[in-house]
Amino acid sequence: MAKAGPISRAIVAMTGVMPRWFVRYISRRYVAGSTLDDAVRVMHRLSEQGACFTIDVLGEEITTLDEATYFLEEYRRVMAQILEHGFDANLSIKPTAFGLLIDETVGLENIRTLVREAAEHDMFVRLDMEDHRVTDATIDVVLTLHAEGLVNVGTVLQGRLHRTLDDIDRMAGAIGVGADHRICKGIYLEPESIAHTSRQAITDATVASVVRGLEQGAYIGIASHDDAVIDASLAALKQGGWTPGEDVDPRQPSPPERLGKGPGYEFQMLLGVRGPLRRGLRAQGHRTRVYIPYGEKWYEYSIRRLKENPTVATQVAKAFLMPWTNRP
Ligand code: FDA
Repeated sequence: MAKAGPISRAIVAMTGVMPRWFVRYISRRYVAGSTLDDAVRVMHRLSEQGACFTIDVLGEEITTLDEATYFLEEYRRVMAQILEHGFDANLSIKPTAFGLLIDETVGLENIRTLVREAAEHDMFVRLDMEDHRVTDATIDVVLTLHAEGLVNVGTVLQGRLHRTLDDIDRMAGAIGVGADHRICKGIYLEPESIAHTSRQAITDATVASVVRGLEQGAYIGIASHDDAVIDASLAALKQGGWTPGEDVDPRQPSPPERLGKGPGYEFQMLLGVRGPLRRGLRAQGHRTRVYIPYGEKWYEYSIRRLKENPTVATQVAKAFLMPWTNRP
């Protein structure tokens, strides 16, 4: 996303006076609801479209380590529901909600506990990437857990950060083809000193990250709704010898099979965004995963997303006022 324009900034400035019911109304399409039952209902509905899922319990940075217990418990409930209903789903967690920013050792231990329990059920855990304060710590958690033999964990690398190609290479050096990255543009507006800031540069860098990850043998979740990123990724996959619908990874030496994953890549999109595009990719034989946030903190989540990156406000407003531009 590019720098925020005046319309985006005006919408964000209005968030303080937007009635709660209005924010609720707008966020309904992007958030499954406030309870786990709501997320289960959405998964049943979208399973019919051949999608698989990753579940996010809303809530981010905590202020006391005790608060991490809530997330651990809630993700245990999510796991139980995924298993009970037989969904093709995994978990997305915010490392700071597990305490990473308060105490790295305790945060790591909390995440380790969840990843270990998930491993018992062959379930994957994705560490969402937050802002640059925790990039190193988040990557370190993944490398540490892999070194301990917990390989059902990976993180997200943000195309906009200058460091990302190096991170892909460094992780390939450390954990080889066990690396499993979600590649996205990155939602946090980071300073020019560490990140690309123009729309074109962010798009190009995101595509370059997808390509580098595929070259390095990693599993890649291509997380974008941008035609430019998706088309360039499709071209790279074609050039790499991938055939959609065939469960064959053409790379040599052949990376390991990942449980609950496609051959070596998948497309990922947020709930409520560009459904027709996602269904079209699925119809072509590509694996598609929908990111499903739910939780009582839907209000804070919605407002925070707008504030973190005001260009989201324009997209949401466009989807609201011109629904044909973004059908769920
Ligand atoms: P872009 O913003 O250009 O959007 C392309 C088009 O998609 C828009 O023109 C619009 O039509 C539509 N669109 C996109 N967002 C929309 C919205 N909210 N409402 C309506 N329409 C919308 N970031 C991060 O920093 N850490 C993370 O862990 C993750 N995780 C993550 C998971 C998944 C599955 C996805 C898809 C994205 C993330 N992101 C993320 C967010 C990501 O970094 C990025 O901010 C958004 O995906 C928007 O970038 P696009 O590539 O979609 O392009």
